[in-house]
This record gives sequence, C-alpha cells and structure tokens, in this order.
Amino acid sequence: MPKLIVINREGEETSVDADNGVSVMEAIRDNGFDELLALCGGCCSCATCHIFIDPAFADKMPAMSDDENDLLDSSDHRNETSRLSCQITVSDDLDGLKVTIAPED
Ligand code: FES
Repeated sequence: MPKLIVINREGEETSVDADNGVSVMEAIRDNGFDELLALCGGCCSCATCHIFIDPAFADKMPAMSDDENDLLDSSDHRNETSRLSCQITVSDDLDGLKVTIAPED
C-alpha cells in the first residue's frame, strides 16, 4: 500500500497509508486532515483541495486539465508545484510522495 507524507498548515509531517485508486484528496481527508476542505467532493470545481507536490515527483503527475489550471489560477497561493489533490490518483508509483496542504484562500 503506497504511503503519502502529508504536511499540514502547521508544518507537521504525517505518514499516511493510501489505497491504490483513491484520489490524493480522499487519502488526505480520510486520514483526518479536516483543513483540506474538498468542498466539491472531488469534481474539480472548488479548489479547496489545493496542495503542493514534492518536485521530485513532478514527472509522475498526471497532465493538468484546463479546468484544474483555471481553478488553481483563482488561488493566491499557486506556485509551480500546485495541484488539486482530487485530480491525482494514488498508485504504487506515488509511494513516498510528499504533499503540503496549501494555505487557505
Ligand atoms: S475537491 Fe473540489 S476541486 Fe478538488
């Protein structure tokens, strides 16, 4: 089972187990990180699941859709490592991925 390392808004790191096939958003939320609001439930329409991805995993990320790109543009905290966590599916390839929950907009 892949592990993700989640860094919360206080900067604390936690290692969580994530099932293959769930979204990174679901893996974070289901492990009790209620600061990741994920208000739209994962249908790419709210941007409250914004995270920063460890650059070491950049080449393993799925391509970004226009919708995701537009939503990320609405965030004041977007940077080159920004993604919406509901748009990334957990797989063995992502074992050890470090993600940081973005500041609230
Ligand atoms: S949960 Fe709403 S865009 Fe990801």
